[in-house]
Amino acid sequence: MNYPGARGHGVIDVLIDEATLSRRVGELGRELDALYPDSANDPPLLIGVLTGAVTFMSDLMRAMDGHVEIDFMAVSSYGASTRSSGVVRILKDLDHVIEGRRVVVVEDIVDSGLTLQYLLELLRQREPRDIRVVALLRKLKAGAADVPVDLLGFEIPDEFVVGYGLDFAGLYRNLPCIAVLDPALLGERAGPHGEHPSSDPHSGGEAG
Ligand code: IMP
Ligand code: MG
Repeated sequence: MNYPGARGHGVIDVLIDEATLSRRVGELGRELDALYPDSANDPPLLIGVLTGAVTFMSDLMRAMDGHVEIDFMAVSSYGASTRSSGVVRILKDLDHVIEGRRVVVVEDIVDSGLTLQYLLELLRQREPRDIRVVALLRKLKAGAADVPVDLLGFEIPDEFVVGYGLDFAGLYRNLPCIAVLDPALLGERAGPHGEHPSSDPHSGGEAG
């Protein structure tokens, strides 16, 4: 592994290296282009879910040839007790009106699926013409919400991962690969309900 600093800070394994990420994101970009052949007249609006999706979003949009517009949303869980219900609070709403638009939600990772489920419901109320979801990662997890992902980068095992935008307690987002953190490190900071640490650095923190 070429990230000695990261390894010293709890990274135990590289799950997806830079070259593999780049290849797959390139494919996803081309697949998206094919889905929006009329982008010159009707550019899709890519909606990145902050903060984790920033890296993926920036590579994905550059892998597309057609016209796109971009926007971001930031959401937060209400904290451990409501996390299971998937109720989220909007910290930053869209700048665009999406009624009648073709929108693409860009997510870093689908874990329980609850955040995405809630977000989709919320966006549908604004009556976009259609909504697609592109997610870089989806965890293979029993009991996860059956939320539709139209384009998926990789299915991964149910482990806590960081890098390429994904954080642990705010750190590791700048790793260029997707890496697995030492579970011992997670145990030190995990909340009492076993929720993943990034959701709860100051309780009810940003979900991204
Ligand atoms: P979900 O609602 O459980 O599907 O996940 C909500 C958010 O938690 C995701 O969009 C990520 O920002 C974050 N998350 C979930 N799993 C991980 C992980 O393994 N590493 C870092 N962030 C994660
Ligand atoms: Mg996210």
